[in-house]
Amino acid sequence: MAESMQGLKRTHRCAELSAANAGETVTIMGWVQKNRNKGGLVFIDVRDRSGIIQVVCEEGKTDAALIEKAAKLRSEYVVAVVGKVEKRSGAVNKNLATGEIEIIPEELRVLSESETPPFQIEENSKTKEEIRLKYRYLDLRRPDMQRNLMMRSKVATLTRQFLAEEGFMEIETPILIKSTPEGARDYLVPSRVHQGHFYALPQSPQLFKQLLMCSGCDRYFQIAKCFRDEDLRADRQPEFTQIDMELSFVDVDDVIEVNERLLAKLFKEVLGVEVSLPIQRMTWQEAMDRFGSDKPDIRFGMELQNVTEVVKDFDFVVFKSAIENGGTVRGINAKGQGSMARKKIDKLVDFAKDYGAKGLAYIAIHEDGTVKSSFAKFMTEEQQASLIQAMGGENGDLLLFAADKNKVVWDVLGALRLELARQMELLDKNEYKFLWVTEFPLLEWNDEQNRFTAMHHPFTMPMEEDLQYIDSDPGRVRAKAYDIVLNGNEIGGGSVRIFNQDIQSKMFEVLGFTPEQAQEQFGFLLEAFKYGVPPHAGLAYGLDRLVMLMAKQDSIRDVIAFPKVKDASDLMTEAPSPVDAKQLDELGLEVEENAQEQE
Ligand code: AMO
Ligand code: AMP
Repeated sequence: MAESMQGLKRTHRCAELSAANAGETVTIMGWVQKNRNKGGLVFIDVRDRSGIIQVVCEEGKTDAALIEKAAKLRSEYVVAVVGKVEKRSGAVNKNLATGEIEIIPEELRVLSESETPPFQIEENSKTKEEIRLKYRYLDLRRPDMQRNLMMRSKVATLTRQFLAEEGFMEIETPILIKSTPEGARDYLVPSRVHQGHFYALPQSPQLFKQLLMCSGCDRYFQIAKCFRDEDLRADRQPEFTQIDMELSFVDVDDVIEVNERLLAKLFKEVLGVEVSLPIQRMTWQEAMDRFGSDKPDIRFGMELQNVTEVVKDFDFVVFKSAIENGGTVRGINAKGQGSMARKKIDKLVDFAKDYGAKGLAYIAIHEDGTVKSSFAKFMTEEQQASLIQAMGGENGDLLLFAADKNKVVWDVLGALRLELARQMELLDKNEYKFLWVTEFPLLEWNDEQNRFTAMHHPFTMPMEEDLQYIDSDPGRVRAKAYDIVLNGNEIGGGSVRIFNQDIQSKMFEVLGFTPEQAQEQFGFLLEAFKYGVPPHAGLAYGLDRLVMLMAKQDSIRDVIAFPKVKDASDLMTEAPSPVDAKQLDELGLEVEENAQEQE
């Protein structure tokens, strides 16, 4: 039977108590972690957000009725305990922050009872994620999840503090906005008042923050919810949070400088980690050439090497035809992997094929110097030796090669490099390697749509020196865009914006918008730019990704209180769900029969 807490007031959280409180009478409230009854001696572990404390009911010290009540407690009952803090009579528990003390209860109340939970509330739960998410409110009671949420809160608080001190204004931008489908797919919200019309949920506050610069706000930030209807992965959610900012009268270096100090502060105050400034910078081109990725993990080497020149005369049709078709041959050297079993190498070949490779050629150099290669018969001894030399190959190394168009070669070797690093255990979660990737291409060719799309977004400023190519060779134009990368994750990105109407119109033209379409979709921005727009630039972090890495988690779901799963549904509330015919009617909507059947 549940009792009232009337007359009681909590004095401490469980783990706020220490030996310094010995002799004090305290009141704690929390959940029963476990309850051990050793015949007249009952130990109860009480847990709250701060941690666990042991309550000991002992004949002679505690009255019999209380001991009897304590013995009946079950896991996850909510209790209030009034009692005296004492130094432990038994062994000190070094695993517990409160391991030196215990509470001898004078009063015990059961504030609410609990059914047996579907899984044990404990650190490092092995419970399947689907079950954890269905009962997320229980999952969040677990200490690791509590720590993640606390860390996230701390990051948000410190960010607000820092940006406020740097003269940023926190401004909220709307959630119901106009659909401007560039980038990911929009989530749409039907309008009741304007039937057949829709709002979109923002993919980011991009346009509004630029308008705030037009408004003279000078420096804006927001911890903003963003919505993107895209395929989910471990580092992507349909709704996620950005630390979003925009600054007036600045260029690339100004944005980078203030953000480096923000990152240094966060890592120092949350993790005690010193980020040495300035953070290394690398152009997009260099990142692709050396790492096959625009978000390279630079905690380890295994860099790509272009061996096109070395192999161009090999009598190997795979290499020859790739080169003839304008491609390249590149390799990576997996140090010390020369005796990898054939089966394991075959797995790497399959892995490469998943990333678009037609195959993966290799040279395995055994410890004794003997060499085994998948294309031995297509090269002379001398050619083989020159290739091994170009790759810095030594006894015990495994050399892997991909030949194809650059994009494929980069994708394949970039992914393979990471896969090998995982297998070789080269990735240390305690090490934090930041990198700015700069000078991204402005545009990216989209085969499906048969047109260029903006690599960052249509408001990104081309580099002045490349503007001359915008008509003749648009793919060559670089942008004043930058990403901040941490351990191979894109944790943030931004750019200097176009603030010149002519360049903006040109950009829309290159992206295939007619002037009418540009006006229809972005008219309000183009209009605003007519009335005095300051040069401006900005950046947004994925807060979830940042906290995921700080908390050493593998999925952003573990740092989001109520995340969605792969098919974008919420297992706890079962959203999305069908709605009443009446609701649809009010919106002037009808659901097609077969769509309903699929439910
Ligand atoms: P961008 O689209 O690069 O830039 O997004 C900024 C950062 O947000 C994070 N992110 C995500 N996190 C979780 N789930 C997702 N689905 C997801 N998509 C993106 C990434 C990314 O680096 N308005 C611009 C920023 C600017 O130019 O100022 C923007 O949204 O960490
Ligand atoms: P084949 O003569 O087709 O058996 O190929 C010889 C070797 O080249 C095999 O190890 C293939 O996996 C590899 N290979 C095939 N296509 C490519 C490619 N595009 N890039 C690198 N290696 C390849």
